[in-house]
Amino acid sequence: MSQLIDGRAISAQIHSETAARVAELARRGIVPGLAFVRVGEDPASVVYVGMKEKKSRELGIRSVTHVLPSSTTQAELVALLKALNSDPTVHGILVQAPLPSHIDSSVIYGTVLPGKDVDGFHPINVGRLMLGDTGGFLPCTPAGVHQLLIRSGIPMDGAEVTVLGRGNIVGKPMAAILLQKARHANCTVTLCHSGTRDIARHTQRADIVIAAMGVPRFLKAEMIRPGAVVIDVGVNRIPDPTAPNGSRLVGDVDFEAVREKAAWITPNPGGVGPMTIALLLSNTATAAGAPAAG
Ligand code: GUN
Repeated sequence: MSQLIDGRAISAQIHSETAARVAELARRGIVPGLAFVRVGEDPASVVYVGMKEKKSRELGIRSVTHVLPSSTTQAELVALLKALNSDPTVHGILVQAPLPSHIDSSVIYGTVLPGKDVDGFHPINVGRLMLGDTGGFLPCTPAGVHQLLIRSGIPMDGAEVTVLGRGNIVGKPMAAILLQKARHANCTVTLCHSGTRDIARHTQRADIVIAAMGVPRFLKAEMIRPGAVVIDVGVNRIPDPTAPNGSRLVGDVDFEAVREKAAWITPNPGGVGPMTIALLLSNTATAAGAPAAG
């Protein structure tokens, strides 16, 4: 039976560090401002942005949410972002993904000023990560996974890590973070995706498996080696006739079976999920001028 990696406890620790940094900013007369932009009524996005707003308020971050109809044009969204870019009370800007299909997300994420890009999606921040320049913003979910590993004391130097999923929000930046020649990194990273021939061959040799490909309960116990560390980033809605609304959320890991064989595992919910908000608000404190925590 494995030990649980408690994302709720670790995110609470990061929130209290952020609250202290926000208090230090207040002593300098600065109130961090975070603008949320949501386009359309994707039910998951409504919930996520609501949770992020609530936590911002609790930490003393002033948040403003712009909700636009799904018919919003790309030009209208760009115009709003330019106004937020030039508003000195706004230190961070988050455009919730997914965007409607008529909007080119690369144009949108490229419009947010890199210094206000607390999501870490601007090409300059992506490029800084690839170059090993620590001056940029890291995307919140992979940075949150990294903090889970660091704060759980999991050794990473030289570890074999297999990441499942090559998305721009998690898989690709996750691999880039862990292969840096740096403390708490220096891993040998294998990035698997839908074109990978034999995924189990790669997960079976890994010290750490990070599942972020969006396939319900994909990672089975026989796919890991005993004593592995397993991180489940997946959030998948599956039909469940016994649930009140006919569906429920499951991760990318077959949790009950895998936990019997792993040394460490994230519960889901309560693992990676709370970390995304923690890193977002930490990035916002950094954007407002508080030095990033060690
Ligand atoms: N949608 C899913 N994850 C994220 C995230 O980290 N940031 C934004 N902006 N949208 C998301």
